[in-house]
Amino acid sequence: MSAPLSASKLTITKTTNPKPKLPNDQLVFGATFTDHMLTIEWEDGIGWKTPEIKPYQNFSMDPATCVFHYAFELFEGLKAYKDKNGNVRMFRPDKNVERMNKSAERIALPTFDGEELIKLIGELLKLDHSFIPEGRGYSLYIRPTLIGTDVGLGVHFPKKALLYVITSPVGPYYSTGFKPVRLLATDFATRAWPGGVGNRKLGANYAPCIVPQIEAAKKGYQQNLWLFGEEKFITEVGTMNVFFVFKDAASGKKEIVTAPLDGTILEGVTRDSILDLCRERLDPAEWTVNERYFTIFEVEDKASKGELVEAFGSGTAAVVSPICEIGWRDNDIKVPVNEKTQIGDLTQQIATWIAELQYGEKDHEWSRVV
Ligand code: COI
Repeated sequence: MSAPLSASKLTITKTTNPKPKLPNDQLVFGATFTDHMLTIEWEDGIGWKTPEIKPYQNFSMDPATCVFHYAFELFEGLKAYKDKNGNVRMFRPDKNVERMNKSAERIALPTFDGEELIKLIGELLKLDHSFIPEGRGYSLYIRPTLIGTDVGLGVHFPKKALLYVITSPVGPYYSTGFKPVRLLATDFATRAWPGGVGNRKLGANYAPCIVPQIEAAKKGYQQNLWLFGEEKFITEVGTMNVFFVFKDAASGKKEIVTAPLDGTILEGVTRDSILDLCRERLDPAEWTVNERYFTIFEVEDKASKGELVEAFGSGTAAVVSPICEIGWRDNDIKVPVNEKTQIGDLTQQIATWIAELQYGEKDHEWSRVV
């Protein structure tokens, strides 16, 4: 029988060369890393080997290792926060390990007991807790990664794999901070399609999106608004899920809407949290919360009738990212933002709701003390 992943086997080797810590205003997303990393090897027939926490270091790998050739790679992104009592908290890590296992299954990499990985990440956080920056908007980004490490150019399922976790102190994801972004509605490239892998967090989903992003940047837009199909369904924005808010002019009733999880949409943890919070906290007499198909034509039409209220992207890295304009064909669709804050009112409300939970300001089962 193959050995399951077990946190109780953990070994720890501490660094003898601690790194200096940067002040918050010098943190750039994913640019610097903490003193330690977690690694766990896996081998077919043996199972998960000893989890090791050790000084952050390079890997040495054969150039024929399968991850370099056939993209046997998947990752996760979650964050740890310091609360006002100095406790370290993770936000919904169970959702990340669940999604990581779904990604692993899709590309024939080994799965594992998610709670054991959460315990191991907890140990890494305890060791590197002094790197977790304090204050709203600041956190430690945790990047669990799983790669195939079989050596050889034959295309088959990997008989060896490596799960590792690195962590990076971060501030706001965009260098422009919490400011609304301009999007290019993109139908000249497709991010994901039915039967594909767009709902899995595979590295292979990300590299092909960079050229379209460069095309958008050349035209003055920061991100792509990904459309799909003849109908031009709105699916995602950049590397994030996307939400729109509409208001029916006749009834005054508002709707918050995002694309349904039909296999082409990443099962975002922030997306899921926003849907739950909106269903729980928005007055149903005034609001509907929908996962449904909607198109750029609907957005264009609603904008022309004054029924487009606001829009934002959602993801772990940026949490929410307000949108102020969408380039579509020869038109720039204006997305309203609050004049004073430059952010939609619901977008701001949701950002606050989520931050209160992430930073442990309000007790909630989603926030786990390490
Ligand atoms: C996120 O929004 O959390 C992402 O997926 C971005 C990440 C790839 C840096």
